[in-house]
Amino acid sequence: MKLVVQKDSATPIHQQIYHQILNRIQTGSLSDGEKMPSLRKLSTELKVNYLTVNKVYQRLEEEGHIEILQGKGAFVKSKHKTKPYTEGSGEQEVFSTLLQRSQYLVNRTKSHYDFSKAVVSPGLLPSHFLAQQTKKILDENPMVLTTYGPVEGDEELRDEVSKYLEHQLGYKTEAENILITSGVQQGINIVANTFLTATDTVAVESPCYGAAIDTFMNRGNAILPILMDEEGMRMDVLEEQCHVAPPKLVYVNPTFQNPTGRTMSEKRRKELLELAETYGFLVVEDDSFSEVYFDGVLPPKPIKFFDTSGHCIFLKGFSKTMAPGIRLGALVADKSLYEALYISKASMDVGSPLLNQKALLPFMRTRRMKDHHEKLRIALQIRRDITREIFDVYLEGKVQYELPKGGLNLWVELPEPVDVEALQVAAKEHSISFLPGSTCYVTDAPTPSIRLSYSTLSDRENTEGVTQLASLIAVQLTKS
Ligand SMILES: Cc1ncc(COP(=O)(O)O)c(C=O)c1O
Repeated sequence: MKLVVQKDSATPIHQQIYHQILNRIQTGSLSDGEKMPSLRKLSTELKVNYLTVNKVYQRLEEEGHIEILQGKGAFVKSKHKTKPYTEGSGEQEVFSTLLQRSQYLVNRTKSHYDFSKAVVSPGLLPSHFLAQQTKKILDENPMVLTTYGPVEGDEELRDEVSKYLEHQLGYKTEAENILITSGVQQGINIVANTFLTATDTVAVESPCYGAAIDTFMNRGNAILPILMDEEGMRMDVLEEQCHVAPPKLVYVNPTFQNPTGRTMSEKRRKELLELAETYGFLVVEDDSFSEVYFDGVLPPKPIKFFDTSGHCIFLKGFSKTMAPGIRLGALVADKSLYEALYISKASMDVGSPLLNQKALLPFMRTRRMKDHHEKLRIALQIRRDITREIFDVYLEGKVQYELPKGGLNLWVELPEPVDVEALQVAAKEHSISFLPGSTCYVTDAPTPSIRLSYSTLSDRENTEGVTQLASLIAVQLTKS
């Protein structure tokens, strides 16, 4: 059992250890009856006080997750009789406990004012154009439905993506380095399948995009949450961890990060690559939002742009800015890594659907795409500004938020006594949902927080919903 302790984290050490062990029990990676490491062994391994580990075991026993037998040791008490993956229990409940943080599981019941999902309102995306073009493709080439596309992706699309990366992001690469994926989420999974074993450690931003945490955690990887500041992931903290034990991989969403909206500075991007070279880890750069910048201010170039040694794998998403229903993204890797990723993609789905790839091409080839991005930026900036104005009116000085310079999300930190769960219940009564910030943390959230996606609703609904939510928060503040 590999656990990671971050000594300068705001989360107390006993809580970090508790959550990691509990997660392994709940996900079945520690199975019923399994012997836990002795207190002495764990405290030595983690370099923490014996009493701290003892406190964790006591709590786990009190809550019924383990049993401590005098003279024999501690044993897991879990409903998972077998380990998932290795022995294949096939029980639905195993899988339902695997995805704990995912935004896709939180707020599954529909709400009228849904701020919980980082998606763009379909009204702001090129639905009609894509539909027309798809019909045309089917009329002219129906065999697109009855042909396997190449594993690495349609050749024409890879060429187009290569041009896109150069013109839109200023990053030049060849089509041969591009692997078409079914979205960035699949890209993250492909990288994890290719390069991680269950004993590896992955470092992530804290807070982090929840489905990425889940991807790594559900494979059994130890997750190292690295603190952020306004310049993104803190490299001094990451470096300190590297001195102890470098991670195998660092996952970052450096531009208009989900959930905080922050952007990693160019300096930090370069420092991250330097650390990757020094300590030999991979950097996975998730770029789902960089086209959505506000006030005409472009974000820094991608980390991959500065990567001269092939340590960075770049994941470009087309869901947020073009067509989530088409489920397409692109993975860019240097030659040394590409073959292994290609094999992993082949074993996952033998290639993304050809029709979807062909359907995106005409849009990417026309001037329309540029105009669309321009309009999208304007529309989302208006929503961001309205959201900010309403929060200023109702909550001025009472909650903390940074104004995102792009992207889809507003990250709001609430003062300590506010109960996010109670707020969620109150919001539900008004058919409002948001993402509780706790879903974005590996361990306990240091402060109560929520993530609001202002991109999902129409202007009118966004204004109505944010106004109601802000007044509900104001009520919660008076109660606490
Ligand atoms: C940071 C981030 N990465 C990846 C994804 C998944 O994107 P895709 O639809 O490209 O798989 C999301 C979706 O919310 C996201 O916010």
